[in-house]
Order: sequence, then structure tokens, then C-alpha cells
Amino acid sequence: MQQEKLRTEAENTLRQRTLELQQLTETLEMRVQERTAELAAMNEELKAENEERLRIEIELRESENHLRELSTALLSAQERERKLIAQEIHDSMGASLAATKFKVETALTELGNDSPQTRAALESIIPIIQGTMEEARRIQMSLRPSMLDDLGILATINWFCRQYESIYPSIRIKKEIDVQEHEVPNSLKIVIYRVLQEALNNIAKHSRASVVLLFLRKNSQTMELTIRDSGQGFDLEEAFSRKGTTRGLGLDSMRERVELSGGSFLIESKKGAGTVLRATWPLNS
Ligand SMILES: Nc1ncnc2c1ncn2[C@@H]1O[C@H](COP(=O)(O)OP(=O)(O)O)[C@@H](O)[C@H]1O
Ligand SMILES: [Mg+2]
Repeated sequence: MQQEKLRTEAENTLRQRTLELQQLTETLEMRVQERTAELAAMNEELKAENEERLRIEIELRESENHLRELSTALLSAQERERKLIAQEIHDSMGASLAATKFKVETALTELGNDSPQTRAALESIIPIIQGTMEEARRIQMSLRPSMLDDLGILATINWFCRQYESIYPSIRIKKEIDVQEHEVPNSLKIVIYRVLQEALNNIAKHSRASVVLLFLRKNSQTMELTIRDSGQGFDLEEAFSRKGTTRGLGLDSMRERVELSGGSFLIESKKGAGTVLRATWPLNS
């Protein structure tokens, strides 16, 4: 009897435990299912997020390309426009001034030695016309040196430096040009000229330098333009953090022109230690 009772009790306990175990297993399975579903949902979310990021990246790249195309178009439109204005100045103003000068000189010849007062008045006009002609020529050349198209970049660099040194006699330019005209890709000529123009204007305006070193050289892979001054230098961070109207456009536009023409642009400057600008273009020969 006693034994029978004990066995029934043991059996009951076993049944109870088995039931509990079954319930536990069921709960565990449910938990695993829930968790798996959660993970799957998270995975989906991540995938969607990733796809979204990829889409945005592609859009960004497209709009960057678009922007680059726009800037290139804008720059070439600007160059075309400048060329046109320079031509207009040459053809209209230049021609009228030359005609005026010719007429005054003719009047002077016809006058001979009569009316010395009129003669003096007419004579005083000639240097004014001459000065205006030179000014027109200067404006025309700074808009777009026709020399660039007619004689090439090397002649234009030489002319520009000569003219610059005569305007700023305290600054000497030491040139080292180690390339031939035909080695400079046509598309780079105007870029080189514009960078040189802005860099040298900055040197006159800001650097107080007395010597400028100008290098144009190439190796088998790259062409490099370097403009180094021995002036007072400047704080790059400060210059680039300037906002609004106090911020110049020169440095940015040099960088833009160089990068849009496929090159890279580097500025090094330190207060008291001068400034170096370097533009490097890959040559695909
Ligand atoms: N060669 C240089 N030497 C000293 N400072 C310079 C030189 N080039 C540029 N800078 C500094 O960088 C600033 C930005 O130049 P830039 O963008 O050409 O504008 P801007 O010439 O109109 O001031 C200048 O205001 C000047 O402080
Ligand atoms: Mg400037």
C-alpha cells in the first residue's frame, strides 16, 4: 500500500514536471520565433536604409556632376564674353581713338606755324589720346589677351610679367619655364593665364614681396605651375573662414578653374614665411 502510494506520487510529480517542461519549451519556441521575426524586420529596415543611402549618394554625385558641368559652362561663357568685349573695345574704341589722333595730327600739319595758341591746344590733346589708347589696350588685355590666341601662352606669360614689373618696379619675377608651347594643352592655356594673373595681383596687393619665383614645368605625367613669393604670408584658416563681403574670390576662383580643368590646386602660406601656389595637371599622353 505504502509503496503503491509512493509510486503514484512519483508518477504525478513526473507528469507535472513533464507538463512544465512542455510549457517551457513552448514559451522558448515562441520567444525564438518572436525574436527571429524582430530580427528579420530589423534586417528589412536596415536594407531599406542602405538602399536609401545609396540612392542619396547617387543623387549627390549626379548633382555634383551637374554643378561641375554648370561651372565649366559658366567659366567658358565668361571667357567668351570677355573675348567679345575685348574685341569690341579694340574694334570700336581703338579704331575711333586712332582716327581722332590721326585727325588732330593732320590738323596740326595743316595749321603749320599759324595760330600758336590753337597749335598748343591741339598738341596737348595728343598725349591724352595716347594715354586713352594705352588704357583701352590695358583693359582689353586684362579682359582677354588676344596674344594668347595669336602667339601662345609662353609669349603671353613673358609679356604679362614684363608689364607687371613695369607697373610694380619693387617686385622682380624670376621665371623658369621648362616647357615648349606645343607641350601645353590648349585647354590649359587660359587657366594658366588666369591663375598667374590672380596670383600676381594678390602678390602686389597683399604680400609686400620683392621677389616672385614662377615655374612652369612638366614631367612625363604632369604639368605644374608654381608661384612662390617671399612676402609676409597669411593665415589660411583665417582667410578661408572670412564671410560675406570681406571674403575675396581670387583664391576660390583659382582653385575652381584648376580643378575644373582636371588639375589639383595647393596653397601653402604662413605668416612671415611667404606663399606658394601650385597647380598640377595630369597629362594624358
Ligand atoms: N600672396 C599673398 N600674400 C599674402 N596674403 C595673401 C596672398 N594671397 C592672398 N592673400 C590673402 O588671402 C586673402 C584672400 O585672397 P583673394 O581670395 O584673392 O581675395 P582678395 O584678393 O580679393 O582679398 C587676401 O585678402 C589676403 O589676405
Ligand atoms: Mg585676390
